[in-house]
Amino acid sequence: MSSLRMRRVVKRYKSGGEVVSAVDGVSMDVEEGEMVALYGPSGSGKTTLLLIAAGLMAPDEGQVLFDGVDLTRCSSREGVIFRRRKVGFVFQSFHLTPGASALDNAALKLLADGYSLSDAHAAAIPWLERVGLGERLGHTPEQMSMGERQRVAIARALVNDPSLLLADEPTGSLDSLRSAQTLTLLREICHEKGVPVLLVTHDPQASGFADRVHTLRDGRLMDGLDVDLALFAAP
Ligand SMILES: Nc1ncnc2c1ncn2[C@@H]1O[C@H](COP(=O)(O)OP(=O)(O)OP(=O)(O)O)[C@@H](O)[C@H]1O
Ligand SMILES: [Mg+2]
Repeated sequence: MSSLRMRRVVKRYKSGGEVVSAVDGVSMDVEEGEMVALYGPSGSGKTTLLLIAAGLMAPDEGQVLFDGVDLTRCSSREGVIFRRRKVGFVFQSFHLTPGASALDNAALKLLADGYSLSDAHAAAIPWLERVGLGERLGHTPEQMSMGERQRVAIARALVNDPSLLLADEPTGSLDSLRSAQTLTLLREICHEKGVPVLLVTHDPQASGFADRVHTLRDGRLMDGLDVDLALFAAP
């Protein structure tokens, strides 16, 4: 049973002499087969929360459990393997490698995990076709529109058949038709494979696709969740 559990997560940034509470005591669950949308104004802490959920950033306080493993207590090597094998992450700014083809960009995680080039490409091609980029395999990010780049980033997130999918504004550069297609794809993966999906969005269409919507404001959830304290009670 794969589920994401975040408990009382806190993250503060220090910039100059100031401390910004980017995430301020967030508790949230995403269950197996559930697609949760996270709304919130710019600067409300959405990206920070997603990076923490992926184990890409350590919180100052709180716990993040996936499949019963506390990501905040993993070694850095365990964290890398977890992200490579289990997490699909669509970055807000895509994070594609400049000069590398769409195919190499989509296959990157598998190459890093020891796949041969031909096996990694064979696994990536169906995902690129699924996001409508079957004719663009050899194009580099520089040769693609923002929407095409975003779809490469989505294919890359899905290529390892993730057990947890985290997507930061995955439809931000897409028109409404592509946006609906992408949300449908994410929902299919979620519901058919049971993958928990947490998606940050400003897209009003997205709420129609999500099973649940949370709103974040100034690092706090506006809609709350009863925290099951017993889960973390001392044995
Ligand atoms: N590296 C950093 N150093 C200092 N402050 C940061 C850093 N990253 C984010 N912040 C601050 O933390 C807060 C939350 O930022 P975050 O990027 O998580 O918001 P967001 O909801 O994703 O915004 P957007 O919708 O614009 O992407 C903001 O006030 C931001 O200025
Ligand atoms: Mg953001």
